[in-house]
Amino acid sequence: MTTPIYRNYYRQRTANQWRKIPAEQGDPSAIRPFLAGNWKMNLIPRAGVALAARIFDLCHNIRDVDMGFAPPFTGLSTLADYIEPDFLQREYGIGRNVFLLAQDTFFESKGAFTGEISADMLAAIGVDRVIIGHSDRRANLGKYFGFSSSVARRLSKSFLTQSHLRLSQRENPDIKILSAIAHLLEESNNDVLEGLEKFLEHELNERAGESDEAIQRKVHAALANGLQVIFCCGENREARRAHETFELLERQIRIGLDGVARPTMHEIIIAYEPIWAIGEGAKPAPPEQIAEVHDFIRNLLMDLYGEQVAARVRILYGGNVKPDNICEIMQLAGVDGALVGGASLNASDFSKIIRFGLPN
Ligand code: PGA
Repeated sequence: MTTPIYRNYYRQRTANQWRKIPAEQGDPSAIRPFLAGNWKMNLIPRAGVALAARIFDLCHNIRDVDMGFAPPFTGLSTLADYIEPDFLQREYGIGRNVFLLAQDTFFESKGAFTGEISADMLAAIGVDRVIIGHSDRRANLGKYFGFSSSVARRLSKSFLTQSHLRLSQRENPDIKILSAIAHLLEESNNDVLEGLEKFLEHELNERAGESDEAIQRKVHAALANGLQVIFCCGENREARRAHETFELLERQIRIGLDGVARPTMHEIIIAYEPIWAIGEGAKPAPPEQIAEVHDFIRNLLMDLYGEQVAARVRILYGGNVKPDNICEIMQLAGVDGALVGGASLNASDFSKIIRFGLPN
């Protein structure tokens, strides 16, 4: 017998394990699966609307799951106009279960932050929820922007000499920095400096990105502006191999959500996205690993916020979710939905993901 896939359910905790139990049809307190498409940097505004229209066409009368679309910033306004609930209700028999998502926000509300978009700007154009801490931003900014080489180059003898002079002329120079530079200049030969430069460049290239602290500020900025948060977390391959997955996730969640009060937790959706499972060419995480991590996260939420909150927070899985694995993933007791990249750009694939468990 296959386990039923509940499209609406409650969650129950028995003997340290979570499980899904079916909800009464239409019960407003039931948990609604959430299938969210992250379009990343794809689609001009009208192509986004055309894709959404094809998806709605294939999802007539689907009301018992929530769906979300995260176009790039430039596509938000156009899509906001298109997904007006009365129109969706009339045309497709759907409506209030469609959510407009932004892919990121900045933590300050206004000012000299060229290129950034604040949470109140997003709220003002009808965004409902914002993805915060996606691994493309947590881990890949070093690769995109290449500041690793410019930082690493500072380890040359001439740069260190100039810096030492400049810093020592300050009113209150930082003694630790000064003595470290002096030490490098006195003790190290060029090979040592070159080695350090390479190390720093590699580290920044591999790891530079948004910090847990910046993510925490973004979470608070979003919540303060009435936006719900899709909080992404997940380990890279290195951490998984070193058995540091849980430690890392705990740090990401504890710091990222620090200061979010218990009553506000219903505005938070968590997305577990192991970095090694994301994108073309990668394989989704095996179901046992997804289940294990979702349980870990839920138990952590129970420690932090109590059982009632833990039973209700939606935890999505992300990383190569496709039409052929969505049912298996949604069967897992701790999984309440999916954050989908590649497959959300294809109307047929994403509508199958939204319709998981229904006959084609
Ligand atoms: P993917 O991306 O579905 O293409 O693996 C998931 C994500 O990055 O959110």
